[in-house]
Amino acid sequence: MCGIVGCIGTEQAAPILLEGLSRLEYRGYDSAGVAVFDDQAGALSVHKAKGRLQVLSDQLHGGADLRGTVGVGHTRWATHGAPSDANSHPQVSHSGRIAVVHNGIIENYAELKAFLMGQGIPFTSETDTEVVAQLIEYFYEGDLLQAVGRVLHRIQGAYALGILCADYPDQIVAVRKDSPLILGCGQGCSFLSSDVTALLRHTRNVIYMEDGDLAVLTREGIQCYNHLMQPAEKEIVQVDWAVDAAEKGGYEHFMFKEIMEQPEALRRCLSPRIQKGEIVFEDFSLSEDYLQKMNRIYIVACGSSYHVGMVGKYHLERLTRIPVEVALGSEFRYMAPIVDKNTLVIVISQSGETLDTMAALREARRLGGHILSIVNVVGSSIARESDQVLYTWAGPEIAVATTKAYTTQLALLTLLALWLAKRLGTISDADYQAGVAGFLELPGKMDETLSHRDDIQYFASKYFNHDSIFFIGRNLDYALGLEGSLKLKEISYIHSEAYASGELKHGTISLIEEGTLVVALSTFSSLFAKAMSNVVEVKTRGASVLALTTQSHREEMAQTADAVMTIPDIHELLLPSLGVVPLQLFAYYVALMRGCDIDKPRNLAKSVTVE
Ligand code: G6P
Repeated sequence: MCGIVGCIGTEQAAPILLEGLSRLEYRGYDSAGVAVFDDQAGALSVHKAKGRLQVLSDQLHGGADLRGTVGVGHTRWATHGAPSDANSHPQVSHSGRIAVVHNGIIENYAELKAFLMGQGIPFTSETDTEVVAQLIEYFYEGDLLQAVGRVLHRIQGAYALGILCADYPDQIVAVRKDSPLILGCGQGCSFLSSDVTALLRHTRNVIYMEDGDLAVLTREGIQCYNHLMQPAEKEIVQVDWAVDAAEKGGYEHFMFKEIMEQPEALRRCLSPRIQKGEIVFEDFSLSEDYLQKMNRIYIVACGSSYHVGMVGKYHLERLTRIPVEVALGSEFRYMAPIVDKNTLVIVISQSGETLDTMAALREARRLGGHILSIVNVVGSSIARESDQVLYTWAGPEIAVATTKAYTTQLALLTLLALWLAKRLGTISDADYQAGVAGFLELPGKMDETLSHRDDIQYFASKYFNHDSIFFIGRNLDYALGLEGSLKLKEISYIHSEAYASGELKHGTISLIEEGTLVVALSTFSSLFAKAMSNVVEVKTRGASVLALTTQSHREEMAQTADAVMTIPDIHELLLPSLGVVPLQLFAYYVALMRGCDIDKPRNLAKSVTVE
């Protein structure tokens, strides 16, 4: 969702800004813009365009048309006001002196706008952001920081801001509250960005701004201030992601690259955590005392991360016998959750910035829960606000539809379930060892699963024309179906639903008619016979069935289903980790055949930073 970049240095800014914005495209956006200080004109030069970044870049000849070495840029995902040139950022104050790029929502903008209009200040957009630019100008009496400080006291909501002022041509002001903003410390240059991937080409030395922080970026360096406007020392963190990790490396789409990277991501995530047949979490533990008192586990997340939680619930309850609730980040705050100091709250997020998940985390903390997060992006807000963090180490994930983050989150949560069971004494040694052995096989078996991708491509070519698809499964396969269905609808725009097979008779079966495609998931061996009955049930009503099962059940399934995707047999805890791969590939190939914009599906954002 909305992306911010900014740079100040000695090189022409506009090409750097446009390149930086291209790295943020994956977050989701519908228009783009840049503002640079033109030193010859002594004024800000602002350019904006609705649509893809390429439109803006073409207009500016890749940025070559714009003079100046200081500027900010933005990709906008519309919230207040439709996508249009006028509503794009940067938003500029009426005199043209102040330009602002903004990620987040100013909740009290209507009231502030009414006040400013009452003062005779003309507005040119429908955005909440324009209010910030106009208000800074309103308070501006020659001291930019003072004016920004006064504005921050008056605006409410979530915001990351990049501010340029024509009277201060040698600085950019950055502000952060509840929306990510990262500063890059270069040699003779400074940068800001919503996301570390846009900084990697320039510097690996970054500062993660915290809520309430303000920073002044100059060519000489960065000065940070806390919410009281007192100078604050900030730690400079070295990012160790490879520059090309966020590039396509010869693949047509990031999504496909990330699907193929999964075995490697799993090795990175798992191998340091399994040593000599034991699960070892080097930087995480829970005391014996806490474990004995732990009365409940809550898993809180959104989107695919929530689906990881759905699988995790089955594993955790089966292995630890502790009640587990899985809640959507967007619901948690409003449902009076039963959380106390003996509740372990597991927060799952790839980006570590999803606003609803973050709000749920804060609510859980307020209620006294112990917060353990499973996060991919190091230093992200959720990671920083948690009591403890387990990083997935999946590397940067660029495609909007998550794949390698899902599989590493799931592996880590499953590993945690096994570890907890061992600590709580709710698993036998033999079962524990069998589980650990399963993990050691997982990356290799995922390689094997991926090597059969041509079969999935063939099935996609058979079924890509369907308008409505049902995923059915029981238990682990139901939770897996939720993710398979989401993947498909996200990128191919096919209507699809996932149902617990047992629920079919309570409604959904009325939708099954001649030719309806049902993806029947039956990887979970203990429930295979039940899954077969459901396949027969829908076949009898005319459905075409594309099944997913394990190698050992393939033959039996093939006697009834129209087509069968298979995964290697593996420990039952890890079936969903392998099972998701054919579903990811199916969604990918179907979207490819339908000519969809796979990495940037319409209306979706990678990191959802608004409620
Ligand atoms: C967006 C992404 C999904 C992701 C969800 C939660 O909707 O497109 O892929 O699962 O946000 O994001 P998080 O970063 O918190 O895991």
